[in-house]
Amino acid sequence: MGSFYHQIFVTLVLLLSIFLPCSLSSTTRRFEFNVKWKNVKRLCNTRPVLTVNGEYPGPTISVHEGDNVEVKVTNRVDMNTTLHWHGIRQLRTGWADGPAYVTQCPIGTGKSYTYRFTVVNQRGTLWWHAHLSWQRSTVNGAFIIYPRMPYPFSVPIQEEIPITFGEWFNSDVMAIEKDMMLTGVGPNASDAYTINGLPGPLYNCSLKDTFIKTVEHGKTYLLRIINAALNDELFFAVADHTLTVVEIDAVYTKPFTTKAIMIAPGQTTNVLLTANQKPDSTGMFVLAARPYLTSIFPFDNSTTIGFLKYKTTKSKETVELPLPPYTLPSNLPALQDTEFATEFANKLRSLGSPQYPCKVPKKVHKQVITTIGLNLQDCPPNKTCKGFRNQRFLASMNNQSFIRPPISILECHYKNLSMANLFSNFPEKPPVPFNYTGVNSLTENMNAEFGSKLVVVPYGTRLEIVLQDTNFLNPENHPIHVHGHNFFIVGCGFGNFDAEKDPLHYNLVDPPERNTVAVPIGGWAAIRIHADNPGVWFIHCHLEEHTTWGLAMGLVVQEGKNPSQCLIPPPDDLPPC
Ligand code: C2O
Ligand code: CU
Repeated sequence: MGSFYHQIFVTLVLLLSIFLPCSLSSTTRRFEFNVKWKNVKRLCNTRPVLTVNGEYPGPTISVHEGDNVEVKVTNRVDMNTTLHWHGIRQLRTGWADGPAYVTQCPIGTGKSYTYRFTVVNQRGTLWWHAHLSWQRSTVNGAFIIYPRMPYPFSVPIQEEIPITFGEWFNSDVMAIEKDMMLTGVGPNASDAYTINGLPGPLYNCSLKDTFIKTVEHGKTYLLRIINAALNDELFFAVADHTLTVVEIDAVYTKPFTTKAIMIAPGQTTNVLLTANQKPDSTGMFVLAARPYLTSIFPFDNSTTIGFLKYKTTKSKETVELPLPPYTLPSNLPALQDTEFATEFANKLRSLGSPQYPCKVPKKVHKQVITTIGLNLQDCPPNKTCKGFRNQRFLASMNNQSFIRPPISILECHYKNLSMANLFSNFPEKPPVPFNYTGVNSLTENMNAEFGSKLVVVPYGTRLEIVLQDTNFLNPENHPIHVHGHNFFIVGCGFGNFDAEKDPLHYNLVDPPERNTVAVPIGGWAAIRIHADNPGVWFIHCHLEEHTTWGLAMGLVVQEGKNPSQCLIPPPDDLPPC
């Protein structure tokens, strides 16, 4: 009899030990973010930059899968702001997503708002950034979610190396945005790319501002790479080393080894790097990032470099910059290496293991086909435009150039305020079909219409969106980001999407799952979304210049029947407009 009770006791303890970690997982992590100005000096140029807590780049948020997160944001500057947790699903907590005028009114000067959400079933590297105007230029940081289970790759990790790419501007970034809207021309290019805020020795006055990381021979490192640049996709490589991609946008991938990566603004990529090369007398290897260029607009063709320094056996280690000249890694792709970018994208696959199955929708309820691209717009009456042919540049999806309304769309939707004309339906096909990638890019351009149009779908819809690049003005690789959902890239290609033939080649087994897709230049990408998150979700190009020009739309996912399929009520401190 005694042993029977003993049995029950043992079973109970076992059960408890299994479930306890889950109940403990309701830990709440609290952060205080003060948005304020801070003087920062780069390239011999000091200017006030917008920061969180005076840090440039911004602080890292580290949490565990399952944690509740509370970030109290206080605005201590003379302009509105909002923050966005890029890639966090925000299940039922759309109020905390952050894009200004989409899910919330901005936080005014002197005001606070606490973003509250739970990290559900996500693990890996994401990031956070301001989501108003071009504030994200300096207001950004890593958002790391540690897994509850061991990594699916078996190599022991010596250390993690966070690497965030950014762009440094010598002048006020918000003024650049204002200017480009005023004149109708493209924005000024940045003055430097940066690695963790450091431009590196190829720039003026930047010897001291160089990223150097010491590594040990034979050890493997996990690089958490984030592209926080405003307007450029980037190539990244480490001299003589290969990188093994294991995760993108906080989703595990089938590991593959590559000489370099292409990373678009908004995207994150985790790679393993083993320090297995034979160093020269300096012990240094150059790591470098420069743009993947698909635009004819003014661009920054500079390169940011840093160093991996192999530890020596010397007792006193000095980490000194090697003397110039610095040779760029021969494995760093050239500026216009679309072939590499394509090959790289094609190697990305969901891990699709029993523990992390690839849940790509095999069938869809609805398909939306939308062009993405630029427009040459007639100058408004009584204005002067300095763009091509005295017109101005704009961008659009299905010829709709998105304007953020002076109110929160989510609030209007939730409270059922009738704003029907403002948010009428987004066209689900291009209004006028044409040869999207074959038109004469300058003569057949159309004027866009302005609006804030939305695609509305019932809860649970399996939605396919085909993103079709156009070569109005010039074809370009656009990184399209979807808020509130991950999606599966089931197909992509060059030229025009063929609704008959292309779906026959979709990958419905292990397509990459992400939150930002770099749509091929002069091509298309088909993404599938399981719309299981009620709310209003911004979909936009993560090149800031294109968002400003209107390359955006909204996706409304209606609430389901079940309370667990409904939004939580709006928090009391939600800012008013
Ligand atoms: Cu990284 Cu709409 O955002
Ligand atoms: Cu774009």
